[in-house]
Amino acid sequence: MSFSQPFQTPHQANKVVVLALLSVILLLTNNLLVECRTVRVLEDGLPKGCRKHGAFLTDFGGVGDGKTPNTKAFASAIASLSKYASDGGAELIVPPGKWLTGSFNLTSNFTLYLDKDAVLIASQDESEWPVLPPLPSYGKGRDDTDGRFSSLIFGTNLTDVVITGGNATIDGQGAYWWEKFKKKELKLTRPYLIEIMFSDQVQIFNLTLLNSPSWNVHPIYSSNVIVQGLTILAPVDSPNTDGINPDSCTNVRIEDNYIVSGDDCIAVKSGWDEYGIKFGMPTQHVNIRRLTCISPDSATIALGSEMSGGIQDIRAEQITAINTESGVRIKTAPGRGAFVKDIFVKGMTLKTMKYVFWMTGDYGSHPDPGYDPKAMPIVSGINYRDVTAEDVQMSGNLAGIEKDKFTGICMSNVSISLAEKKKKVQWNCSNIEGFTSGVNPKACDLLPDKQPGKLVPCPFPTDKLPIDDVELKICSIRPKPPRYY
Ligand SMILES: *[C@@H]1O[C@H](CO)[C@@H](O)[C@H](O)[C@H]1NC(C)=O
Ligand SMILES: *[C@@H]1O[C@H](CO)[C@@H](O)[C@H](O)[C@H]1NC(C)=O
Ligand SMILES: *[C@@H]1O[C@H](CO)[C@@H](O)[C@H](O)[C@H]1NC(C)=O
Ligand SMILES: *[C@@H]1O[C@H](CO)[C@@H](O)[C@H](O)[C@H]1NC(C)=O
Ligand SMILES: *[C@@H]1O[C@H](CO)[C@@H](O)[C@H](O)[C@H]1NC(C)=O
Ligand SMILES: *[C@@H]1O[C@H](CO)[C@@H](O)[C@H](O)[C@H]1NC(C)=O
Ligand SMILES: *[C@@H]1O[C@H](CO)[C@@H](O)[C@H](O)[C@H]1NC(C)=O
Repeated sequence: MSFSQPFQTPHQANKVVVLALLSVILLLTNNLLVECRTVRVLEDGLPKGCRKHGAFLTDFGGVGDGKTPNTKAFASAIASLSKYASDGGAELIVPPGKWLTGSFNLTSNFTLYLDKDAVLIASQDESEWPVLPPLPSYGKGRDDTDGRFSSLIFGTNLTDVVITGGNATIDGQGAYWWEKFKKKELKLTRPYLIEIMFSDQVQIFNLTLLNSPSWNVHPIYSSNVIVQGLTILAPVDSPNTDGINPDSCTNVRIEDNYIVSGDDCIAVKSGWDEYGIKFGMPTQHVNIRRLTCISPDSATIALGSEMSGGIQDIRAEQITAINTESGVRIKTAPGRGAFVKDIFVKGMTLKTMKYVFWMTGDYGSHPDPGYDPKAMPIVSGINYRDVTAEDVQMSGNLAGIEKDKFTGICMSNVSISLAEKKKKVQWNCSNIEGFTSGVNPKACDLLPDKQPGKLVPCPFPTDKLPIDDVELKICSIRPKPPRYY
């Protein structure tokens, strides 16, 4: 079966579907049940999760030799396929090979599929990266600059976009950018690997992301976002290589990710000081499950520090961290305004940590002198339960803000064993309020035992979020791409 024609007549489309159906039936002759289900899906139209139109990158002049730039091939492939957005959508298949490229933009009702033996390699030629204005909720580029390089894979104002592959690799070749950043040689904020803005129905799954120039995955001003099954790897001393940063997003599911990085594995954000307050778009209704994190100088999950649109209803379960600075950390400062509230963490297994609990009310870091130092963040309803931690230097370092206490802090069923190099003071608390129950070693006086002798669990929501019912768009048929070696 050939996908070499991106423009399929209905007849050709049928042929593809029939051929695909035949191969599926051949594969599944031993399983009548699956066969019947496949037939039924096809009678309804397209197989579930598949787009009606498809093309290979090679149909648009792509060369997978690792040296030839493919920036134009991506642009023309996606421009052509975007014509099918309202006719069943389209998929661009990146065949096996090494595909050097600069930044390219996605389109709606679209899947970017990387074959398991495809490697996308980010160009180090700065002219291959368009320059975008700062994000409206940030006012400034995050690297203290006025503009920013577009992300390697960028999309804005889209509906229904999928980025996936057979665990294929996207290599950001970050060393080039890290060095220039450290030497202050960049006039613009470094690019991210994947950024999707102002979009609805975004799915990013089954990929390996290597050596991003800066943040890895940045959904912003978007809703109904799923990020699943990513392996994200960067040197633990690389600057700002955050794993997944949902930013001013609603309804987000982040599951089954393995992250080794030089910054927070996940950072939930919502804009920066006066710009974020003005934009006023919170991150809310987020489920994070089955995360594994290694990040010796940063958090497993950070809330903030940019949180000026507010952060609420964040749930995290089955969190594992090894050799990481802290568990779920709150970072904020006077000037941020807004709130961090209704945070629920259940089930953390931590090993070799500087802190188990860490809250910072004086994080600093402002976009410019125009921030309002009287804009105080409200931090309340922060719940942690069922935590086991080993080889810990300090149990809790919890600093709220003077005259702006962090309230409603709850910790229950927490068992911490300390490192040889443990701190003398295990709990250092100021300007906070709350309770503990079944916490060992015993917490500070500001977090008294709720009912000594009895375990009173901290709350965790029992309802589902709408995003929990959304299925991943997995297409089970796909023509075999040509190989490039
Ligand atoms: C995407 O597909 C949906 C459903 O088929 C359709 O309603 C929508 O208009 C399409 N989007 C675009 C941009 O064509
Ligand atoms: C992608 O879209 C943005 C904004 O719409 C634009 O500024 C940028 O130049 C586009 N990138 C490419 C590679 O065409
Ligand atoms: C994208 O959506 C935002 C928010 O709705 C809007 O302000 C902006 O003009 C849109 N951009 C484009 C290129 O349509
Ligand atoms: C992810 O990729 C692996 C390796 O190709 C494959 O076995 C698995 O089924 C894929 N998962 C999804 C959800 O597509
Ligand atoms: C994906 O690839 C990475 C290495 O690139 C590997 O460590 C990981 O186990 C793979 N994941 C799956 C689900 O195959
Ligand atoms: C306490 O937490 C551990 C995990 O750290 C869990 O296995 C155990 O079931 C919890 N106990 C209660 C009573 O919830
Ligand atoms: C405790 O926290 C306060 C406020 O953040 C800080 O000034 C002080 O140095 C800390 N003390 C210790 C022993 O860590």
